[in-house]
Amino acid sequence: MTEITELWLENRRGGKTIGIGEAAPRISFVADGPGPFELRFTHDDGRQETATVLRTQLVGWPFAPLSPRAGGLLRVGDSAEVRIEAGIGDDWGVQFVSPSLTADRSAPRPAYLLRALFDTTSLAADVKHARLYATAHGVYQLELNGRRIGEDILAPGWTSYNHRLRYQTHDVTAALQVGANVVGAWLADGWYRGHIGFDGGVWDIYGPDVALLAQLEITTVDGVHHHVPLTWTWERSPITAVGLYEGETFDARLLDPAWSTADFDAQTWRRAEVLPRDSFEARLEAPTALPVQETEILRPISTERRAGGRIRLDFGQNISGVLRIRLRASAGHAVRLHHAEVIEDGELGTRPLRAATSVDTYIAAGSGDEIYSPRFTIHGFQYAELENWPGELTEGDVEAVVIHTGMQQTAWFDSSHSGLNQLHSNVTWSMRDNFVDLPTDCPQRDERVGWTGDIQVFAPTALRLFAAHGTLTGWLRDVALEQAEQGHVPNFVPWVDCGFPNFPTAAWGDAAVIVPWEMYLNDGDTRILADQYPSMRAWVDLVDDLAGRTGLWNDGFQLGDWLDPTAPPDDPGKSHTDKYLVATAYHVRTARIVADTAALLGRDEDEKHYRALAATATRAFQEEFISASGRVVSDTPTSIAVALIFDLFASPEQAAHAGTRLLELVAQGGFHISTGFVGTPIICDALVRAGSMDYAYHLLQQEELPSWLYPVSMGATTIWERWDSMLPDGSINPGDMTSFNHYALGAVADFLHRAVAGLASEAPGWARIRFEPRPGGGLEHAGARYDSVRGTAAIRWARAGGALDITVEVPAASTGVLVLPGTGEEIEVGPGTHTFQTTFRPAAGDPDAPFLGWRRPDAVEA
Ligand code: BGC
Repeated sequence: MTEITELWLENRRGGKTIGIGEAAPRISFVADGPGPFELRFTHDDGRQETATVLRTQLVGWPFAPLSPRAGGLLRVGDSAEVRIEAGIGDDWGVQFVSPSLTADRSAPRPAYLLRALFDTTSLAADVKHARLYATAHGVYQLELNGRRIGEDILAPGWTSYNHRLRYQTHDVTAALQVGANVVGAWLADGWYRGHIGFDGGVWDIYGPDVALLAQLEITTVDGVHHHVPLTWTWERSPITAVGLYEGETFDARLLDPAWSTADFDAQTWRRAEVLPRDSFEARLEAPTALPVQETEILRPISTERRAGGRIRLDFGQNISGVLRIRLRASAGHAVRLHHAEVIEDGELGTRPLRAATSVDTYIAAGSGDEIYSPRFTIHGFQYAELENWPGELTEGDVEAVVIHTGMQQTAWFDSSHSGLNQLHSNVTWSMRDNFVDLPTDCPQRDERVGWTGDIQVFAPTALRLFAAHGTLTGWLRDVALEQAEQGHVPNFVPWVDCGFPNFPTAAWGDAAVIVPWEMYLNDGDTRILADQYPSMRAWVDLVDDLAGRTGLWNDGFQLGDWLDPTAPPDDPGKSHTDKYLVATAYHVRTARIVADTAALLGRDEDEKHYRALAATATRAFQEEFISASGRVVSDTPTSIAVALIFDLFASPEQAAHAGTRLLELVAQGGFHISTGFVGTPIICDALVRAGSMDYAYHLLQQEELPSWLYPVSMGATTIWERWDSMLPDGSINPGDMTSFNHYALGAVADFLHRAVAGLASEAPGWARIRFEPRPGGGLEHAGARYDSVRGTAAIRWARAGGALDITVEVPAASTGVLVLPGTGEEIEVGPGTHTFQTTFRPAAGDPDAPFLGWRRPDAVEA
């Protein structure tokens, strides 16, 4: 019997499906055999609908559309079931309530408590279920009768609040009691009006208020639906000051744990101000992704009492999150928690945090065992120091709580090379740490914003490692909204006007086109293309304008091959690759993608237009940047890699000539990295294109600076922003912009999966898989697994003397081809697991075939 091993709706892989925004959510599932599949939907009112389908992916909702609040149980076959419930759409009958309409702009502000008392005695029947729909200007957490509601952290997360505000749906049935109840909310500034951005940053970006919007609805067993009116009062909370960057100060003496229960006397609390909802323009939307949440708890791997009395903790992993402490202290005793990513000169290296001071303060109530973790701040750290800790630290007193968006992990890589394995782990962690509701550049300093270029280069890796579609879908909506407002794609989204040049920039703005395209390639869903199409087009049209319709984008602000290792620490944009070469190459690339998208969407006229535009830009690139023989202007690995990978040469001869030159340059550079944000994600592919996987292995395994493994050799547990964020002598790079947790340069992880292990998709949505192992580089074995939308695809190869064993796994809903290394022979493989044995043919550079320095590509592949 066919078994269903996974079942999800839209982009909610692995997560709860109550409060969804779609009236007709598409259904996806993984089956271990062929269809047809029986779908059954049992509505909450007992009605049943059934449908039989043949596909497993993105099956259009075959039942009556869900009206707001409607729910039921979806069953696929006999083995999978999920509860679905629609959100409330536009059906809001409440207003925002606010405890604070202004605040000073120089220091972190307090958080507030809001409470509302209501009674269920008058309900004629027992409660069947209760829902609390909520959102905020600011960040909030809910309680009902003294119990925390929901697992969301930093809800409602950060969107372009002027346009879009997400609400959360909370199931509060279990916390409700007969008679008097109290719903309470903690409320703080968050992104809405907190201190955000760099170079001083800004306050009150979206408004001067913090406010809560909460609608409580109860359905009783007699089928009656009740809207419960709530009247809110407020008081200052024990959080006396909090900022996302600065940290949180919590005075436990001010906490009465009964505050959100009916026993509490709230007579002195003030009435909250009511802010009419129609004075705000933002659309209220259900989230497209799972919430930010606690995902893991780490214990320190070492603790040390420092000379000044502080206790230092090393968690062995750079994370985004907070500490959770347990202590006994007298009332008023203050403990300060300091955070840093690295140690420099024996001290916490806090300089790179810039204005994000990242210090939490806990003032004890003196009530025995007290447990605290900050609610409304988040830090990027591996090390922490406890200042003024009362007495000795005992096991379990301090933990690190890892916090980020809930995303299902979908990919694993492993090999016989411990350095590459650690590199892969570092990329995985940098992704986790930077998917805190939106794809950010870094989790620690006064930045943490949605830089478009970073996710543009990282998207294929992100989509491989985790089910990131939900997060990216939401973020792309903001890209489109802010793009429409500003007339171009801002360099980070949501945009914060803190002084950074607000001009269109290649490789950054191109995210508007490339990210949706990569999403489509990954899951085969054209809806993201249809939704983003106006934004994708608008970007390419704008660049076409900027290029004066010549296809050549050769003036104006550009970030170029950002952080090229030859650029000076204080001028990271000063790459030795021509910025306009990069800009024009991206123009070609995104014009082609828009043409392909138009074709998929059946927009024939558009397709013609963008093909012609791409052809013009390609010619312009060739005329301006490529010599007749195939030499590329700038003569750098990035410039050649871009031309090769974006297919910009006029002839195969030119490409071959440039490939030879690329190998020469990389060898001359001693197999050190010489590329920045633009070149690094594609350099290994370019080397393969130039004919040498062996060169890619050399580059990958380099440990000297600059290289991917240099940070690994320095003990890194995440990807660094700069190749040398930490210098060999252990000091921190003097540049003002030095993070130890930036995923961009980790975009090579995708290559480890595709080329080293040999697991690549050959058709959108992994309908067809290409298994192409490339053993070499002295590796004994390598393997990768990917839980694609069609099920698990996997490969493993291992050398045994002169033999090479290869095992591949094809999901039931896909087909595949195995390309045998060395011979290139192609073998069709169908669903299931297949094992092959062949002869191991050492690539040049493998210890079995001593590496002789630079060779021509034909010699290498022989
Ligand atoms: C960010 C980057 C970003 C860059 C572009 C930096 O401050 O951290 O990752 O892409 O600026 O200017």
